Amino acid sequence: MGTAVICLSFALVGCSLWYLHQTIRRRSVNSVLENIPGPPSASFLKGSLVPFFNRHAFEHQKEIFKNYGPTVKLHSFLNRPMLLVGDPKALHTMIIKEEHIFQESNVFILTNLLIFGQGLVSTLGEQHRKQRKILNPVFSVNHMRHMLPMFYNVIHKMRDAILDQVKGGSDQIDMLYWTGRAALELVGQGGLGYSFGSLASEMQDDYGDALKALLPTLVNIDLLQRLLPYVYGIGPAWLRRLAVDASPNTDVQKVKSVVDRMSKRSVEIYESKKGALEKGDDEVVQQIGEGKDIMSVLMKANKAASVEDCLTDEELIGQMSTLIFAATDTTSNALVHMLQFLADRQDWQDKLRQEILEAGAGTGIPYDEINKLPVLDAVCRETLRLFPANTTVMRVPNKDTVLPLSEPIRGLDGKMIHEIPVAKGTEVLVGMWACNVNVSIWGEDSLEWKPERWLSGLPNSVKNAAVPGVYSNLMTFLGGKRACIGFKFSEMEMKVVLSVLLSSFIFKPTGAPIVWNLGGVNYPTVGRESNTPRLPLKVEVYTGS
Ligand code: HEM
Ligand SMILES: *[C@@H]1O[C@H](CO)[C@@H](O)[C@H](O)[C@H]1NC(C)=O
Ligand SMILES: *[C@@H]1O[C@H](CO)[C@@H](O)[C@H](O)[C@H]1NC(C)=O
Repeated sequence: MGTAVICLSFALVGCSLWYLHQTIRRRSVNSVLENIPGPPSASFLKGSLVPFFNRHAFEHQKEIFKNYGPTVKLHSFLNRPMLLVGDPKALHTMIIKEEHIFQESNVFILTNLLIFGQGLVSTLGEQHRKQRKILNPVFSVNHMRHMLPMFYNVIHKMRDAILDQVKGGSDQIDMLYWTGRAALELVGQGGLGYSFGSLASEMQDDYGDALKALLPTLVNIDLLQRLLPYVYGIGPAWLRRLAVDASPNTDVQKVKSVVDRMSKRSVEIYESKKGALEKGDDEVVQQIGEGKDIMSVLMKANKAASVEDCLTDEELIGQMSTLIFAATDTTSNALVHMLQFLADRQDWQDKLRQEILEAGAGTGIPYDEINKLPVLDAVCRETLRLFPANTTVMRVPNKDTVLPLSEPIRGLDGKMIHEIPVAKGTEVLVGMWACNVNVSIWGEDSLEWKPERWLSGLPNSVKNAAVPGVYSNLMTFLGGKRACIGFKFSEMEMKVVLSVLLSSFIFKPTGAPIVWNLGGVNYPTVGRESNTPRLPLKVEVYTGS
């Protein structure tokens, strides 16, 4: 009896001490975070989320990098401190050295899991590593070489359709519509061996429509999404399904219907491929894509892989909508941004057209030739530097850790901070845009569109910065194990589209006010209030000089 009481007392004292220790440590971790400069919070409930993430926040974000330096304290829900990181050394820790600690948020992973199934954007750790291992080779340069003729084929059809429109008398054309159609069809044929319909006619495809509807509906359920991690594990699957079915929220119903349509279509395509694969090569080459598309190559590789490396049917199907979704708006919006810059800068448009015509890049040249055209390359890189598809992505450390800085920053109390302890669960934003336009790396003109900076050799400040990006000293495609897997695919697409279009057309501004809006993927509208993504340009047939 006596010993029991003594044991219990010890346990109690031990627990209290441990609790005290944790609290003090958390305090000291948070006090460094609290000491980091940043803009004041705008509201108790939503902190600085609204000013920082609303669609017109580009200017606000720019001011923040200017006024508060490489690492900034923002406020998340209920004013919890949130960190925005632009410092290259800290970024290196986040996405390479401690990638296993700085993981995607639960909200991000669970939302993706519900929408796409078990694809690359919905998995973590060992399962993600296994998927990348088998998928990486399918995105290699070698495979891009095989796909290039198909790219030209699709884009030539698009050129003809635009030509019809111009000849039919319309001189103002929404080029975002066309870059969107091109991106969808290229990832359809190149990714899935599936056609969303000829570019010569209006698209009538359920899968395509479902995808288009997804992003706008998701934005409307942002708050509900944040609750996901709390309800996801509750009750059996059928009960959750019933709860979703019974949910009175119409946006939830819309997302559900979109997801159902997408996954039904993915399964159909997958089953047809599987059937062809079982029958043998003759059957496979009969299909759209002739077996060269990413899914066909992947399924073949998976069949040949050892038991411990191979992916399940669910994992393979999970890649399909993931790929389409990740490949479409990102590339089409970057491309239309390039067209906009070229329309505004006829000097660069002429220079680029001349290079393309001399190389014959509009008709079709091999991968290695199109890839080494210097002006084409500079226009792509400069646009991707200045306007990454989104300005930040979020990571959340799964345990307490420390972010080192390449330069110390001055805390609110006047003392220098050399490294930042970050508590488990803190939201940390990867400042992709902040890093891409860093003045000490890119120079005082870092916010200007200047393709020439890529043509005269990059300054040492770029080479020495050790930016951890997978592409060209930029953070646009991220870096490390979760870097964009499709960046070469995307680069090839942009180069083929620009080559074909500039060989046939001249682009000029219409005078309409084009505004770029911040979103899951940034998008253009005419005027600040419109909700319809569009980018009209004046298009004339190029008849030679
Ligand atoms: C300009 C075009 C593009 C940009 C700027 C871009 C950017 C990015 C970024 C920043 C990420 C990391 C997201 C995160 O971790 O939160 C990512 C991931 C990804 N991207 Fe892209 N992307 C582009 C085009 C493409 C294309 C064309 C494809 C496919 C053909 C693609 C497929 C993917 C996939 C599958 C992932 C997830 C990778 C993983 O988690 O392992 N992307 N992309
Ligand atoms: C810019 O880059 C320099 C050099 O790598 C770094 O020390 C600095 O913290 C960065 N500043 C911003 C605003 O990200
Ligand atoms: C940023 O862009 C990537 C690449 O397309 C996308 O997968 C991701 O969902 C976007 N992140 C956010 C926070 O919107």
